[in-house]
Amino acid sequence: MESKIKEKIKNLTSQINEHNYAYYVLDQPSLSDAEYDNLFRELESLEKVNPELILPTSPTQRVGHPIKSGFQNYDHEIPMLSLSNAINEQEIVEFNQRINRWLDQSKTSYVAEPKIDGLGVSLIYENGHLIRALTRGDGSSGEDITHNIKTINAIPMILRGKNYPNFLEIRGEIFMLKSDFISLNKVRSQNDEKLFANARNAAAGSVRQLDPQITAKRSLSIFCYELGASKGLDVNTQWDMLSYLKSIGLPVSPLAKKIDSIDSMISYHQDLEHKRESIPYEIDGSVIKVDNYVLRSKLGERARSPRWAIAAKFKSKNAETQIIDIVLQVGRTGVITPVAKIKEVEISGAIISSATLHNQDEIDKKDIRINDFVIVERSGDVIPKITKVLIEKRPKKTQKFAISDFNWPDPDCKIERIDGEAAYRCVNPNCKSRVMGMLEHFCSKNAMNIEGMGPQIVKQLLEANLLESFDDIYRLKFDDLINLERFKDKSVMNLITSINESKKTTFPRFLFALGIPNVGQHISKILDIHCKSSIEHLSTLSLEDLENIDGVGLIVAQSIIDFFNASSNREVIDNCFANGVNINKTIFDNSEKFKDIIFVITGSFKNHNRNEIKEILEKNGGKVSSSVSSKTSFLIVGNNAGSKLKKAQALNVKVVKEAQLEKFIN
Ligand code: IVH
Repeated sequence: MESKIKEKIKNLTSQINEHNYAYYVLDQPSLSDAEYDNLFRELESLEKVNPELILPTSPTQRVGHPIKSGFQNYDHEIPMLSLSNAINEQEIVEFNQRINRWLDQSKTSYVAEPKIDGLGVSLIYENGHLIRALTRGDGSSGEDITHNIKTINAIPMILRGKNYPNFLEIRGEIFMLKSDFISLNKVRSQNDEKLFANARNAAAGSVRQLDPQITAKRSLSIFCYELGASKGLDVNTQWDMLSYLKSIGLPVSPLAKKIDSIDSMISYHQDLEHKRESIPYEIDGSVIKVDNYVLRSKLGERARSPRWAIAAKFKSKNAETQIIDIVLQVGRTGVITPVAKIKEVEISGAIISSATLHNQDEIDKKDIRINDFVIVERSGDVIPKITKVLIEKRPKKTQKFAISDFNWPDPDCKIERIDGEAAYRCVNPNCKSRVMGMLEHFCSKNAMNIEGMGPQIVKQLLEANLLESFDDIYRLKFDDLINLERFKDKSVMNLITSINESKKTTFPRFLFALGIPNVGQHISKILDIHCKSSIEHLSTLSLEDLENIDGVGLIVAQSIIDFFNASSNREVIDNCFANGVNINKTIFDNSEKFKDIIFVITGSFKNHNRNEIKEILEKNGGKVSSSVSSKTSFLIVGNNAGSKLKKAQALNVKVVKEAQLEKFIN
C-alpha cells in the first residue's frame, strides 16, 4: 500500500513540475488551470497524511516560514552591472559603430531582447539545486530573497537534465504580468490597502516580504537573460546561452532574436515598440548585446555598465492632465524643487500624481500656472515632467507661481537664489525640511540601512524634537519612543534593534550616508580604497590630494573639503562613533603589492572573470589600463588574445598567462 502511495506522490510531483516547465518555459500548457489545481490538491492531501513521503522537489514545498532577522546581504560573485542607454535610433547606430571600431571589424553579431521593466535577480544553483537568490542591491551586494523566489513556480528548484556545472549563477528579471498587477490592485482597493503605483513596484514589494506566504499569493514571473559567475560551462554565445537556459528549465523571453545588421537592429526596436501595448508585461526598451563572449571580454566593462550591450529606450509616453497645486520640496543639500500636484493620470501602467517643474526658470519659460491643463511625460525611471502647457485650454482662473512669494510653512527656511544658478536654495543648514531630507537619506537602504526608519518616522521624530542631526539617532532610547503616537513596545524594540544593527557599517555606506553633495556610492567606494576605510584619513586630505585620486574631480574634491571644514560636521561624525557606530575595515588583500604597476588585461579567461582579475589587481594597488604602451608593466592574457599581445611582445612587456595568474596574484 505504502509503495503505491509513494508511487502516486512521485507521479503527481513530476506531473506538476513537468506542467510548470511546459507552461513557463515552453509556453505550451499541458493542463488546464482546473486540472492543475486538482493535481495540486490531490498531492497536498496525500502529503498531509504521509509527510514522510514528501519529495524535496514537491511543488508544495515552495512556501517556507517567515524570516525573522530581516534580509541578509551577500556579495555578488561578479558585480551586477547596469546598462547604458541609447535614447534614440542615432545612438543605436553609434553603438554599433563603436563596437565595430573597438573590435576592428566591419560587422558584429548581436542578440536583441526586450528590456523588461521589473527587478534584476541573481539565481545561484549548486549541483543543480537552487541555493540562493539575491536582489541586485547596489550592484556589488544584494539581499537574500531565496525564501520568496522559491514561491515562484516558473523558477525550478532543481535544474532539468544533467548538463550543468556544479556552480551556476544566472541573472534574470522578476516581473508581474499586467493582468496580475491589475487584479492585485483591485483586491487591495477592496481591502482599503495602498495601491501599487505600477507593476514593477508591485513585483519589488512582493519579493521584499519577510513572509513567503504573502509572496506566494502574488503572481510573479521571470525571464532569465544572462550568465553570472559559473565555473566550467562550455557556452560561447548569448544565443546558445538562451537555448541552454531553456534546456535546463529556466524561462527565457520568446522575443529574443539574433541580429546581424544595423538595419535589423533598428527594425527589431521599432517592432517591439509597436507591439509594446500587446505584450502582457511592461517593457521599456530593447537590449542589444554582442553575441560572442570572446568579443564581449575584449570589449570589457566601464565602472557601471558593460561596453558590449546597450539599452535602447522607447520614446517616452505622455498624457493630458491638470495642475491642482504647486508645492516646494527641499532636498538634503537645500536645493528647492517646485513640484506640480496634478490630477491623477495613468501613463504606461503607472499612476502619476505629481511632476517636477525643475526650477523657477522652467516655470517662467513655459508660463506654467496652477489650474493649467498640461501634458505630462514619463520616461522610464525618470521623475515625470511637464512638457507643455495647453494655452488654448487655459481656464479663466489660473494662478502664477513664484518661489520667492511662496509662503513657506517652515519659518526656519531661508530661501535665496544663488548667483548664476537657476535653483533657489535654503541656506539655513538647520532648516527642518532640509534636515528631514538629510536624515531620510542617512537612514535609507543604501546608506545606513536603518530598517523601519522611513520618511514618516523621521518626520515624527523631528516633530517630537527627538532628532536634529544624524548622531541623535544613536542616542534614541526606549523611553523617548514609547510615548509617541502609534509606537508600541514591539515597534520600539524593532526600531532600536535596527538602529543598533546599523552601527556596524562600512566606509562607503557611512560616507554616502553623510550626504556630502556630489559624493555618491561610486565615489564613496573609490575613497574607501584610497583612505583604507578611515573617515579620519579622508578628513585630513587636501584639495590637491583629493584631486589626485583617480575618479575624483575638482567638484567632488571641493565638496569634501567644504564638508570637513565645518566643525559641526566633524562633531556629528565624532558623536556617531562615540555612540557606537563602527566602520568595519574593507579587506583589501596585500593592498600595496602592485603599487605603481600598470596592467592591461586581454583575451577570454576560462576559470576567471575579467572583472574579478581587475578588482584584485586594483585592490592590491595596481592600475588597469585599456591599451598597451611602453608604460605597461604586465599584460594579463587569456585565450584568443589579439593585437594587444602582439603589441606587448613588440614592446617587450612581460606577459602573464591565465595558468600563471593564481601564483602571480598570491
Ligand atoms: S542584461 C550587464 N538583459 O535592466 C548587463 N538586463 O538597466 C546586465 N533588464 O539591471 C543586464 N531586461 O535588471 C539585461 N534583457 C535584459 C534585461 C535587463 C531588463 C534590466 C536589468 C538591468 C537593468 C539595466
